[in-house]
Amino acid sequence: MRLKNCHNFHDYRKLAQKRLPGPIFNYIDGGADDEVTMRKNTAAYDKVDLVPNVLRGVKDVDLSVTVMGQKLDVPFYCSPTALQRLFHHQGEHAVAAVAEKFGTMFGVSSLGTASLEDLRKKHSTPQVYQFYFHKDRGLNSAMMQRAKEAGVNVMMLTVDSITGGNRERDLRTGFSIPMRLNMRGLYEFMSKPHWGINYVTHEKFKLPQLDEHVDMSGGAKSIGGYFTEMLDPTMNWDDVAKMVREWDGEFCLKGVMSVADAKRAVEIGCTGIVLSNHGGRQLDGSRTAFDQLEDIVMAVGDDIDVIIDGGVQRGTHILKALSRGAKAVGLGRFYLYPLAAAGEAGVDRAITNLHVEVLRDMRLMGCQSIADLSPENLIANI
Ligand SMILES: Cc1cc2nc3c(=O)[nH]c(=O)nc-3n(C[C@H](O)[C@H](O)[C@H](O)COP(=O)(O)O)c2cc1C
Repeated sequence: MRLKNCHNFHDYRKLAQKRLPGPIFNYIDGGADDEVTMRKNTAAYDKVDLVPNVLRGVKDVDLSVTVMGQKLDVPFYCSPTALQRLFHHQGEHAVAAVAEKFGTMFGVSSLGTASLEDLRKKHSTPQVYQFYFHKDRGLNSAMMQRAKEAGVNVMMLTVDSITGGNRERDLRTGFSIPMRLNMRGLYEFMSKPHWGINYVTHEKFKLPQLDEHVDMSGGAKSIGGYFTEMLDPTMNWDDVAKMVREWDGEFCLKGVMSVADAKRAVEIGCTGIVLSNHGGRQLDGSRTAFDQLEDIVMAVGDDIDVIIDGGVQRGTHILKALSRGAKAVGLGRFYLYPLAAAGEAGVDRAITNLHVEVLRDMRLMGCQSIADLSPENLIANI
């Protein structure tokens, strides 16, 4: 399998599996507990069918959307994900370059391996900063201030991770940062020498959003430890309301799932919510964003930008989400496998294919702009 033979999500996944040591592949590929929610995320899209309209004379298709004040040329964006430099040495820079090429946003994780500032300098496309809430309120303020100075466009507070999910694949391989591999994990690294050479001959792995504040070196603090020791599980609506006021700009909550929470987000002045179960990596058995979308859009769709992510593998998934009222759709593993498979060239190819797919699907649906999509385009099939 080579890049030129990759035509869809599954092809990139296979190539990533071939290139990456098992523990790293499984870190991307896995979910929490029995991975039920992770599987359901994609399966949810099959429960409704698209109903096209014909003879509408569709020539040019406008895919642009405006979300949280950002004009995007396409209705999808790259959701923030951790540790990208581990997957390929080009890491976040590859993803940001492709997002820029397609005129869309990209997210930088708190556990990102390139700095907000470097990414901002090199890429003009809207930048989202994914943030975790720390016990140390001074640290939260300092990090927000840094993001402001870096020119971050949207603050995205992840609210579904007050504790880490139970990722049993990682327990089996010993995947953690710093690595504490067991014998099987070690063997899997040794069997992918190409990855190892690439890793040691390029820029050193670092976590620039945290390096100033947390010592992750020499095993002093693992990412697991960061979650349990530094993040604040008592975070509540009042805390977040203060943050929203302090940021005083576009602010969204990532991981909202209930109607009640969506209404609270509006009340405290958020400008967006991402319906998300973290790609099935946190609470297994939780509802999918797509299944929850209709109720949330009905409740708050006129007051706040509703975005979703999870399980998106096809252009038609994006059209279904937009038909149900999502303002934009986040991609996670969709770009991570291509990144792991071939760096920027991989992400570029995958996003190019998706762009073509969405354009084709819009034409086949008889739609010229995203506003032409509506719930009338969807019928439940079960
Ligand atoms: C390897 C990996 C790392 C992730 N890291 C983060 C993170 O640091 N912060 C965060 O809010 N979400 C993180 N996510 C969740 C994504 O932002 C997104 O919600 C999810 O991947 C969407 O599901 P999908 O992968 O099925 O598209 C991560 C997901 C994956 C697969």
